[in-house]
Amino acid sequence: MASFDLLILNGLVVTASDIGHYDIAIKDEKIALLAPKGSLAETQAKKVIDAEGGYVMPGGVDAHVHLEEPPLFGKGRSSDTYETGTRSAICGGTTTVITFAPQSKNDPSLLSVLESTHQKAQNNCYTDYSFHILLSNPSPSVLNEFPTLRQKGISSLKIYMTYEALQLRDNEILDVLLTARQNSITTMIHAENGDILSWMTNKLEEKGLFEPKYHATSRPQLVETEATNRAITLSELIDTPMLIVHVSSPSAAEHIRNAQTRGLPLYAETCPQYLFLTRSHLSLPSFHGAKHICSPPPRTSADHPQIWLSLRNHTFTILSSDHCPFHYFDTENGKSSVRTPEYPLGRFKYIPNGIPGIETRLPLVLSAMEKDSKKLSLTKFVEVTSTNPAKLYGLYPRKGALLPGISDADLVIWYPPNTLEEWPIRNEDLHHNVDYTPYEGMMVCQWPRWTVLRGKVVWEREGEGLVGEKGWGRFVERGESTLGGRRGVGEWDVEAF
Ligand SMILES: *[C@@H]1O[C@H](CO)[C@@H](O)[C@H](O)[C@H]1NC(C)=O
Repeated sequence: MASFDLLILNGLVVTASDIGHYDIAIKDEKIALLAPKGSLAETQAKKVIDAEGGYVMPGGVDAHVHLEEPPLFGKGRSSDTYETGTRSAICGGTTTVITFAPQSKNDPSLLSVLESTHQKAQNNCYTDYSFHILLSNPSPSVLNEFPTLRQKGISSLKIYMTYEALQLRDNEILDVLLTARQNSITTMIHAENGDILSWMTNKLEEKGLFEPKYHATSRPQLVETEATNRAITLSELIDTPMLIVHVSSPSAAEHIRNAQTRGLPLYAETCPQYLFLTRSHLSLPSFHGAKHICSPPPRTSADHPQIWLSLRNHTFTILSSDHCPFHYFDTENGKSSVRTPEYPLGRFKYIPNGIPGIETRLPLVLSAMEKDSKKLSLTKFVEVTSTNPAKLYGLYPRKGALLPGISDADLVIWYPPNTLEEWPIRNEDLHHNVDYTPYEGMMVCQWPRWTVLRGKVVWEREGEGLVGEKGWGRFVERGESTLGGRRGVGEWDVEAF
């Protein structure tokens, strides 16, 4: 009788803290044993995988994913559903995603928003999943719902300092932060100064500058740096943890670093687009620049080394995709929906804003590391792509770790280092529902060979490819963040409010 469900032998196991040659045994969806390489060779199991010296890591946790959101502002509708987005995730080594349950300004309750998002995801996911609340109307009754959110396993929310339909004023941000603190909810913030960039956009349009590339012109680094600094100030006043999402600018990273040095519970995220894309991608001929429009915009190649450094040196806590998919050619809901006879290259302010990247997140970064090992260490890679997002959002150690008896058996198994000839990323090889990838033609030399979700092989690159089933992915209830919290010092007594 088989005593284990799955054995993974001869892997080079990498976690956020250790690297070593171990065999892994899995039973009842959990990691059961980690044992020295060779010691499980004779053990009985229903299935055995020989990793042949390839890296074995905790499955990726992608904590910034937009799926199946209604258009909250402007044109465009996300092309990926929960089914196609999580399918794409699993083929790129990500086993847990945190998407958004988006509230529009006239939604009176977060609980109904949460419920309708559950309905979209339920029985449709290939990965395990949870939701961040996307909060755009912090009315008193909405703030009163925070304790109920916690009971329902939701411990994070996101707010915006830009986009008319979502932007909160500073006093509203303070209301949210105070209530979030009282309920141990982690706040994520999109830090761009909405007023500056609307002003810049109007100035550009007055001069007849509408092309995609002016999206980058309208949002210089200062727009991000100012808002980042203001967000830090607001979170310091309330003394509560905050994560700045998708940081693209070295100058914003510097403010974050200074705040961290002062001991503030400040966390930050960056994304592959700020390591691999540049604003020159927005100048591609015809309308192709629109494929690279996201906010903040990709910066210059001179900024990339600084973003890598900020990952290495702890300034950035997590690396997420900010997968926000729109078709390119779709003239109804995609990027091309803004092209008209009057504006053949559209108006950049109306171009659906976001790019896909859920499947390429891990392979792009690991391939870059294999070509230049100084970029990031293997343990750091696991930390920022799996362990830290799990800790920050209350999923650890069930996710993001390989603790026997405790962690879910979520694994990504790569090829042995330096064994594959590099090849170009092609959209036709990806599994999202998007008609392009912004990374088309970029060279990679690593890809997940197998992905395992709760003990079940869901992706085998050399076999049938996608072998997971839609609906195997489950909702995961989340608790409080296990990264450092408030400092509990300050001039005023926040508890009095
Ligand atoms: C770490 O990164 C931050 C942000 O880019 C930078 O300001 C700082 O100088 C770096 N620190 C070290 C010690 O390299």
